[in-house]
Order: sequence, then C-alpha cells, then structure tokens
Amino acid sequence: MELEGQVAIVTGPAKGLGKAIAERCFAEGAKVALWDIEFNGASEVASKLDPTGTRAKAYSVDITDEEAVEEAIKETVSDFNQVDLLVNNAGISLHKPIDEMTLEVFERVMRVNVTGTFLCCRAVTPIMKEQKRGKIVNIASLAARTGRPGVGVNYAASKGAVVSITQTLARELGPHGIYVNCICPGPILTEQTRQYPPEVFASWNVGRAIIKDGLPEDVADAVVFLASDKSAWITGVTLDVNGGILMR
Ligand SMILES: NC(=O)c1ccc[n+]([C@@H]2O[C@H](COP(=O)([O-])OP(=O)(O)OC[C@H]3O[C@@H](n4cnc5c(N)ncnc54)[C@H](O)[C@@H]3O)[C@@H](O)[C@H]2O)c1
Repeated sequence: MELEGQVAIVTGPAKGLGKAIAERCFAEGAKVALWDIEFNGASEVASKLDPTGTRAKAYSVDITDEEAVEEAIKETVSDFNQVDLLVNNAGISLHKPIDEMTLEVFERVMRVNVTGTFLCCRAVTPIMKEQKRGKIVNIASLAARTGRPGVGVNYAASKGAVVSITQTLARELGPHGIYVNCICPGPILTEQTRQYPPEVFASWNVGRAIIKDGLPEDVADAVVFLASDKSAWITGVTLDVNGGILMR
C-alpha cells in the first residue's frame, strides 16, 4: 500500500489512462476524487471502487472552467479534508495538418491541455502549501519530446507546455515540500488514440525496444511511483513510459 492515507485528485478518470490511474491509486490505499467533464463515466468508475462514496467520489468538472475548478476543489477538501496528490491527466487531441487547422481547433486543445492543467495546479497549491507537502503528476506525451507523424501542432505544443509547467512549478513549489513531475506516455490504445488511422498509430510504435503493447496500467504504475515516498528526491523530471521508443 504505497498511498495509504493519501487523498488523490485524478482528472479525466472516466476512461482510458485516467481510469487506470484512479483505480491504481485506490488499490494502493488512497481516497480518490474523480474529476471529469463526463460525470456519468466518472461516477460509474467511482461507484465500482467504493459504492459508499467515502473513499472514491465523482465530481462534475470541466477543467477549462475556472469557477468549476474552484468549486470542485472546495467540495473535494470539504469531503476529504486534504489533498496529497493531483494527477493532471485529462486531455484531448484534435489532429489536423497545419494548413487545415482552424484557430478554434488549435485553441481548444491548448485550453484543455494547458489552461486546464494550470487551473488544477493553481487550485491545489494553497492546500498543499498549508500542508507543507503534496505531489503533482502531469501527464504530457511522447509528442512533446519528438515529432510524431500525424500529431497536430496543437497537441504537441500543448504537451510541450505541460513539460515546461512541470519544471517551473517544481522549482517554485519545491521549497514548500511540493513535488511536481510529469510522465510522457508512448502510444496506448484508448478512445483518444482510436480516432487515428491504425497505420498512424502503428507508426508511433516504430523503434520500440520492448515488444509488448503499452497499457493504461503501465502509466498508472509510474504515477504511483511518483506519488509515493519511493520518489523522495525526484522532482521536475519528465519520465518516459514508452517501451523504449524514445531514450533520453
Ligand atoms: N493514449 C495515449 O496513447 C496517450 C499518449 C500520451 C499521452 N496521453 C495523454 O494521457 C491523457 C489521457 O489520455 P487517454 O488516451 O486516456 O484519453 P481519453 O480520451 O480516453 O480520456 C480522456 C478523459 O479526459 C476527460 N476530459 C476531457 N476533457 C475534459 C475537460 N475539459 N475537463 C475534465 N475532463 C475532461 C474525458 O472525459 C476522458 O474521461 C491525456 O492527457 C492524453 O493526452 C495519452
């Protein structure tokens, strides 16, 4: 039980990576607040984990909505008293070649992936500062580290920004006992990646050193490590979880 007694907020836990992260944090002993714009999906995950709602509870939150995030943090603290871990997992990808990408599509992805991450980090900061401890794990992407065929500039830019937010916040909040790290997952089949043609998805796996397919649970395990006391001298890192597609 690596996270016994902790309270974790996971954004985007209704499906995909976020669902696995919420489930793994719960299995490691954490109480979990599931923040998702898809409230029904998050509720289903929460009630499977804990039908009583005392150790897992869903909240209807659009992370791009400043007021909604502020409301959600108030409710979460009122329900669970503390926040030890924030996992900024919610994210979207809307891919288009640059000459077909409208400003609306560019900004929509930046708003969820960057502004949403910023708003959630800002919301937990006063609580973690007061506790003099806390961990933030941001989910960026391999797309931030290297050009990926078929990935739009909006998504790549947004995930590059998540890496920069991680490093800046790690320095800013480290003196307060708050750790900020990020994970760059490689390709994992989820609703988000199923929108890409299979040949594009397959091309992202080229050069993989480990032959097994990446799973949401592989990312969830890395989150637990970064959330646990086993990573007591690790902050500001970008952890590649990609079977060796990219080695840096
Ligand atoms: N799947 C991959 O291959 C892969 C690789 C690298 C990085 N990532 C990143 O991992 C994260 C999870 O990806 P996934 O593949 O599980 O995606 P997904 O589409 O399966 O799930 C995304 C979740 O985020 C929620 N969400 C979306 N917008 C939201 C908003 N405005 N407010 C609150 N919740 C919102 C959705 O409702 C959903 O539950 C994303 O940040 C994604 O960019 C995924």
